[in-house]
Amino acid sequence: MFSRVARSPASIARSFCTSSQNNAKVAVLDASRGIGQPLSLLLKKSPLVVDSPLYDIVHTLGVAADLSHIETRAQVTGYVGPEQLPEALKGSEVVLIPAVVPRKPGMTRDDLFDINASIVATLADACARNCPDAMLCIITNPVNFTVLIVPGILKKHGVYNPKRLFGMTTLDIVRANTFVAELTGLDPSHVNVPVVGGHAGKTIIPLLSHCTPKAEFTEDTLAALTHSIQEAGTEVVKAKAGAGSATLSMAYAGAMFALSLLDAMNGKEGFKECAFVRSEEGKCTYFSTPLLLGTNGVKRKQGLGKLSAFEEKLVAEALNELKASIRKGEDFVRETAAQGEAQ
Ligand code: NAD
Ligand code: LMR
Repeated sequence: MFSRVARSPASIARSFCTSSQNNAKVAVLDASRGIGQPLSLLLKKSPLVVDSPLYDIVHTLGVAADLSHIETRAQVTGYVGPEQLPEALKGSEVVLIPAVVPRKPGMTRDDLFDINASIVATLADACARNCPDAMLCIITNPVNFTVLIVPGILKKHGVYNPKRLFGMTTLDIVRANTFVAELTGLDPSHVNVPVVGGHAGKTIIPLLSHCTPKAEFTEDTLAALTHSIQEAGTEVVKAKAGAGSATLSMAYAGAMFALSLLDAMNGKEGFKECAFVRSEEGKCTYFSTPLLLGTNGVKRKQGLGKLSAFEEKLVAEALNELKASIRKGEDFVRETAAQGEAQ
């Protein structure tokens, strides 16, 4: 049965605050605005990070100057504009990509594809050239497509390793844990709900039957809770009323994932997270499942385990949508490659 590494509030505070001997270089592309700023702050607080290059097309020098006054060990440096991107990436072991644009009320995540896809492709190309062994964590929406663009680019440079490419779905787990805790009265920092599938609407599949500690729900509550988790991003977009989507909770989720990955890269055992990754085992070529992390990224996929009838139905519904996303992502890769050859 899946469970994330049991992080007590004290252990979370430790990862963010105390000293240690680890030396990771963790880059953030783009660091100047919504997710980028608080994510960079959380990385600056972690003893697992020694060097934190912040890239964006604007304003990173100010963000870096501001963060650099915080009394922690991580060295923060700002890089502005595409000509400084290679320097930002050189030697980076983990790259977090919360780039480009968030959605506005009335939009779906898929509506962001046309604008976000080509910029993610450019950033992935720069990673392939300058930090070919880095773990790449794609936050940019629509995650169900943007992750698919990256392998082709890495393959072109001969540096693709599926164990090192992650689509970020951690926020779905964070939300599921919070909502279950609100309903049950449990301490949210002790609740673990794996969320599998993808990161949009019905492709977000909380496995509430795998919740630890075990929680029982009526059929109606199960349906309502699942719907709230699937629609939580849209709720934030509506509440922000045109000023973007989730930023602070995403920064928290991104930092949680990055710190688990860094702990695992440092040889610590038992770090488990869900992420949207290449999947050879299931019915879909990309699928988020619980992953055991290791020194080389994904050490072992934990699979889905035994599902309830309700969850089996959710997976079946999600598969059609996910397969369509994957086809669209693969078409984009083929068309972009064909345009490149024609030029
Ligand atoms: P934001 O607008 O606040 O920040 C985006 C950053 O991208 C800015 O710093 C901007 O300067 C930069 N940028 C814009 N155009 C660029 C270009 N042409 N080249 C390079 N950089 C460019 O947005 P945000 O709220 O931080 O969200 C960023 C992305 O993260 C969105 O796509 C959003 O949908 C996604 N997101 C994903 C999750 C998830 O769970 N995976 C959660 C929240 C948001
Ligand atoms: C989220 O889940 O909050 C993000 O994917 C942003 C969005 O557009 O909903």
